[in-house]
Amino acid sequence: MCGIVGYIGDRKASDVLIKGLKRLEYRGYDSAGVALINGSLEVRKRKGKVDHLSKLIAKEGLSGNMGIGHTRWATHGEPNDVNSHPHVSENGKIAVVHNGIIENYSSLKKQLADRGKTFQSQTDTEVIALLLEEIYNSSFEISFEEAIQLTLKQIVGTYGLAIVHTDSPDKIYIARKGSPLLLGIGENEMFIASDASPIVEFTNKVIYLDDGEMATITRDNYKVKTIDDVVLTKEVHELAIGLEEIEKAGYPHFMLKEIFEQPRSIADCMRGRVVKETNSIQLGGIEDVMDELVNARRIVIAACGTSWHSGLVGEYLFEELAKLPVEVEYASEFRYRDPLIGRGDVLLVISQSGETADTLAAMREAKKRGALVLGICNVVGSTISRDTDAGVFTHAGPEIGVASTKAFTAQVVVLTMMALAVGKHKGILKDDDMRMYINELLMLPSKVEYILEHANEPIKKMASLFTYAPNFLYLGRSYNFPVALEGALKLKEISYIHAEGYPAAEMKHGPIALIDEMMPVVVIAATEHTNDKMISNIEEVKARKGRIIAIMNDANSDVKDISDFHISIPTTKDCFSPLLTVIPLQLLSYYIAVNRGCNVDQPRNLAKSVTVE
Ligand code: M6R
Repeated sequence: MCGIVGYIGDRKASDVLIKGLKRLEYRGYDSAGVALINGSLEVRKRKGKVDHLSKLIAKEGLSGNMGIGHTRWATHGEPNDVNSHPHVSENGKIAVVHNGIIENYSSLKKQLADRGKTFQSQTDTEVIALLLEEIYNSSFEISFEEAIQLTLKQIVGTYGLAIVHTDSPDKIYIARKGSPLLLGIGENEMFIASDASPIVEFTNKVIYLDDGEMATITRDNYKVKTIDDVVLTKEVHELAIGLEEIEKAGYPHFMLKEIFEQPRSIADCMRGRVVKETNSIQLGGIEDVMDELVNARRIVIAACGTSWHSGLVGEYLFEELAKLPVEVEYASEFRYRDPLIGRGDVLLVISQSGETADTLAAMREAKKRGALVLGICNVVGSTISRDTDAGVFTHAGPEIGVASTKAFTAQVVVLTMMALAVGKHKGILKDDDMRMYINELLMLPSKVEYILEHANEPIKKMASLFTYAPNFLYLGRSYNFPVALEGALKLKEISYIHAEGYPAAEMKHGPIALIDEMMPVVVIAATEHTNDKMISNIEEVKARKGRIIAIMNDANSDVKDISDFHISIPTTKDCFSPLLTVIPLQLLSYYIAVNRGCNVDQPRNLAKSVTVE
């Protein structure tokens, strides 16, 4: 949520910042701004896309070799020019960009106002700029770094911060609590960013700041300490992603590119882990905790959004393949209950970004209570990947489209591999079972490829018939109930059509009242053991004139005859079916959204990484 970028070196800073902000735009796109120091502090900001800011800078010019920038997802105050970051101190010398939320901002604001300070914006961030200025100016003996430390001690909430001051025109200051920041180390130049995407084209050497840490950065050096002034030596990491992975590669949208990447991302996720030769699953990241996992009393999965849906698939997988009891929780609710979790339990958090605030909070709560905390995460170096006891990366590659697609399938693959590994360790799955599952797993990338090849055009055509449908219902059973939820979420987030997902049997307990000739009903009828029941559900919808779009396979050819539209997919084991059934639903929502003229990659009001609670 919100993106931060910063640069100090020999390049034209405004070019680096604008490019970086464009790469970060998927994190928030309400408004954008930059602050450069070139003699004095120069600030440019604009409501709307980074392009608006870039045009302003092109018109007015902006020179200098160091500065900070921000792309915003509004929390306090509507998106407009004034509320955009950077926020500047009253004397015009300090500029601050901020990700996160200052929870005590209203009391701090009141205190500052009582002391005669005047605020320009409705944001919580401006409080930081004004408080910092006040503290710094209160004594000649306080350095700017100390003033930052004193300011941060008064702040309650979360922040990723980048700050510049005209008194130290060769330095950028950054600090982190609950909102990611990393430092890219170049040759006589430094970069800062809230994720690796703006940095990757310049350097692959990075340092991840941890909570409670700050850094003072010059073009050729950096000094990291805690907010309490303890100097730290940080490990320099090597970025594993390349530039091509964060570009569109000829696709009109990142979302379509990412949908089409799935045969490869699924294969990448299994590479070296699903080992046919040894008939085994090798998950190095959880090897050391395998005994604890196998003997766990239960697994609690906590996640949000699409990751929560993959968690629901995980529940079916672990219960069937590993006979381990699983509960799936919305991460946001988990922490606000008094969760009964402790030693002997496993909390498994799932997150594409590894930075989702609610999921982080659940992780911390479970750790505090003594549970083993495991993670499934896509972004290497993210907070979840570093703060869990152990975990498995999804290796799906950067996901830029706000609507999650390839991250979902990769998460499901990881859950499948984990469930199989535990089932094998527990002796529930015998060698023959493993052989059968492994063979089938390894065929999934080509089955996904087949769907993309054969279903893309029919779905595109079908989408044009439903472009203006006001509502959609998605029904699935068993493994495909979570897919129904995921299909509905995908449609609503990028096309703004109201859509609901339901376990098919629940339809008759309420949603059936909605069905008439205007209601498209997407029915996922591709799991063998629920096929007959799904046929009955289809008949119930038809009897009320609802229009059926069926996702089916040849093992259930009856569905074809009673559906208005059908998309045929290859057969697979029921437990792997979500990895195939979700693909047509991703395409359907994509094409409907495109037909409606929606901004598919950056849907309104959303952000890729939700770092506020
Ligand atoms: O990065 P995470 O997986 O933790 O994100 C969780 C949700 O915010 C995310 O899945 C969201 O629902 C997506 N927009 C879904 O497409």
